[in-house]
Amino acid sequence: MNWLPRPADGTAYVAPSLLSADFTRLAEDIADATAAGADLLHLDVMDGHFVPNITFGPFICAAIRRASDLPLDAHLMISHPDQYLEAFAKSGIDALTIHQEAESDVGSTLERIGELGMKRGLSLNPGTHLDELLPHLPNLDLVLVMSVQPGFGGQSFDERALEKIGELDRRREAQGLQFQISVDGGINDRTAAQCRAAGVDILVSGSWLLGAEDRSERVRRLRG
Ligand code: DX5
Ligand code: ZN
Repeated sequence: MNWLPRPADGTAYVAPSLLSADFTRLAEDIADATAAGADLLHLDVMDGHFVPNITFGPFICAAIRRASDLPLDAHLMISHPDQYLEAFAKSGIDALTIHQEAESDVGSTLERIGELGMKRGLSLNPGTHLDELLPHLPNLDLVLVMSVQPGFGGQSFDERALEKIGELDRRREAQGLQFQISVDGGINDRTAAQCRAAGVDILVSGSWLLGAEDRSERVRRLRG
């Protein structure tokens, strides 16, 4: 498993969301984003049931693994993540992030993700209260705060994410926990600065980062 330590205070890692990559030339696009300074890659898996959109599964994750040495986090926007844990582990990804709102039992699914040697991630939608996730905090390596309703790139940032990031950061400190905080949806230079100030560690950015002419400059502006 390949993962990063917590970033220095006031800075964050940058995770391009490959949803905004060019899939006709995926390996080159990954190489380009890596040269621009990406720290890890964010893979959006959608099943057309948990969210209205369909993307890709373990087969494409395995191809991305062959194309990159960066840490890979698969964001599972699927209703039954527990049915696919072995397949994602075999694909070679490093972290598996499931949704609080999915239909699998969260506690046992996270435990199995850990047993399979992957980082354990849990995500929550903008409308889901943080209280629902709190019992799982000691068993998490990563919390992914959604700042858009999942399903599509290119939406605007929901400010409710900032309060959740701040609260997670305070609880982590107070309880001596080590999980990392990530945010996903509508991230640009302005919303990234707000998230960094609130205590985020990883910024996922799709359209704003990968749609740019000069991606290196955008990575620098996100990182802080
Ligand atoms: C949305 C996905 C995001 C998406 C972000 O459901 O989880 O990762 O790619 O895209 P932007 O940065 O364009 O909001
Ligand atoms: Zn995502």
